[in-house]
Amino acid sequence: ISVEWDEVTAEKGGFDHFMLKEIHEQPKAYRDTMLGRIDEKTHKVVFPNLNMTPEYIRSIRQIHIVACGTAYHAGLVGGSVIEQLIRVPVSFEVASEYRYRNPIITPDTLVIVVSQSGETADTLAGLREAQANGAHVLAITNVVGSSIARDANDVIATLAGPEIAVASTKAYTSQIIAFNLLGLYMADIRGTMEASEIAHVIAAMQSLPEQVESLLAQSESIKAYAEHISKHEHLFFIGRGLDYAVAMEGSLKLKEISYIHSEAYAAGELKHGTLALIEEGIPVIALATQDALLEKTVSNIKEVKARGAEVMAITYEEHVADLMRSVDQVFAIPKTLPLLMPALSVVPLQLLAYYASLALGHDVDKPRNLAKSVTVE
Ligand code: G6P
Repeated sequence: ISVEWDEVTAEKGGFDHFMLKEIHEQPKAYRDTMLGRIDEKTHKVVFPNLNMTPEYIRSIRQIHIVACGTAYHAGLVGGSVIEQLIRVPVSFEVASEYRYRNPIITPDTLVIVVSQSGETADTLAGLREAQANGAHVLAITNVVGSSIARDANDVIATLAGPEIAVASTKAYTSQIIAFNLLGLYMADIRGTMEASEIAHVIAAMQSLPEQVESLLAQSESIKAYAEHISKHEHLFFIGRGLDYAVAMEGSLKLKEISYIHSEAYAAGELKHGTLALIEEGIPVIALATQDALLEKTVSNIKEVKARGAEVMAITYEEHVADLMRSVDQVFAIPKTLPLLMPALSVVPLQLLAYYASLALGHDVDKPRNLAKSVTVE
């Protein structure tokens, strides 16, 4: 018997593209990134290999998050979560801008660099700038032998496994998991959360892999919507709070591989200019997963609906019936804590980008003009 075999097909493990395989590997990536970092007896987070001492963690007065592309978007989510959990101001820095604006970096500044590859030149330069100014640099990276991992003062490895597709998926969500763990770890040391609150978040995090599996089982409905979207030239993603951060990632994913133009907008900011672009039939994807902001997001949805937009909302089961009254379509995600919603809500957006790219016949794994790792500044 002769068997047709080639290495690339084998590596794709039965999936048509690396991106789809990597999207499906997310439940495992979540589990692996949490593995060994949760003490099952105390229900606390442990990072036995960090060099940061509890004294240092208690002394942190500000946090800078420095990254590029999708890693920057993970930083937007993760930094917002950390700010809530430990009540220390966080600023979000695009790495290629960071050095040039002469940032205020002091020894009590924790600089967190985020990089899947650990080789992005701008992020590495940001790390060096921070160290030169006396900051402690913690890297969240997927490649432990990388330049960024070597040079950082501390490393939290995301255990997503190799990511081949240019469009990052499982690395992004693993970075979010890592940020949540770090936030809980620091909150415990700084005393900003009760042990019971920490245990509550941990329990919710441990349910995420299964919840992602249930989301992936609904891929077909996203595929149908993606085929519809692929006929459009422009679309919008809107959301508030963490939903806005996820909207940015959803928009980037779609641009990267489908080449459809989209903008992510803070839902409440639309009326200050961008609303002028909303016309009959334009698709708007509204993220509505944040309970405290839901009512406000719904009024923004009504603003675009009134101008003829065709709205697809992403929310969790409880709100589906309610939202159905204001939108054209709803995609339901399982319920988790508001601060963990991004780890679920981004999945349909990854699938949307994937299937839109596929419908348009593009090279999903190797989009034009882009590289997996950018080592020039
Ligand atoms: C490139 C990739 C993006 C990635 C960015 C940062 O532009 O195409 O997908 O988000 O670099 O990469 P890093 O390895 O630092 O996370």
